Amino acid sequence: MKNIVILISGGGSNMAAIVKTAQRDDWAGQMGARIAAVISNKADAAGLEFARSHSIVTEVIDHKVYSSRAAFDEALMQRIDCFASSNSSVVVVLAGFMRILTPAFVAHYAGCLVNIHPSLLPAFAGLHTHQRALDAGCKVAGATVHLVTAELDHGPILAQAAVPIIAGDTADSLAARVLTQEHLIYPRAIAKLLQN
Ligand code: GRF
Repeated sequence: MKNIVILISGGGSNMAAIVKTAQRDDWAGQMGARIAAVISNKADAAGLEFARSHSIVTEVIDHKVYSSRAAFDEALMQRIDCFASSNSSVVVVLAGFMRILTPAFVAHYAGCLVNIHPSLLPAFAGLHTHQRALDAGCKVAGATVHLVTAELDHGPILAQAAVPIIAGDTADSLAARVLTQEHLIYPRAIAKLLQN
């Protein structure tokens, strides 16, 4: 059995897309994978309500309560590892989780830690990707699913989708177009990872 733990900080639309795909495609029956929990570092993350309404365990671990990044990551690791056991491993999915993770956290889940980034990596790692793509005069933008490594937004690429940039686009209109593709490629990439 593989236990998927999804980390969010906000709206959680990627998490919702993963949950819906897991249910539709019967990941539990087909791949022995279930979504064990959704954990947020923010109590008011809108995605928590969606998870609860789909009978998924939710937890809030508020990073502000911890004295350091390392202490928060340690607490997060301890909670995540509660979802692993001798006969089940854990896959950690970052879905709009707005925290930079420590090298210790990343090493602990090496190969089992995935992220989605709203740009065509290696272009535009970091924040404000859509505005930066517009400012650079790009004609296409997109999203990337990748394994997480110690260097921010730089791990091996698992999937990408490109969208056109259209005259008159704003960061918001471009983000919305990219997000629709994120919802397609993220569940697909996770399913592929689970099968391997
Ligand atoms: C997505 O664009 C994701 O790529 C980025 O943050 C956004 C999160 O959206 N990391 P949501 O919370 O999944 O709706």
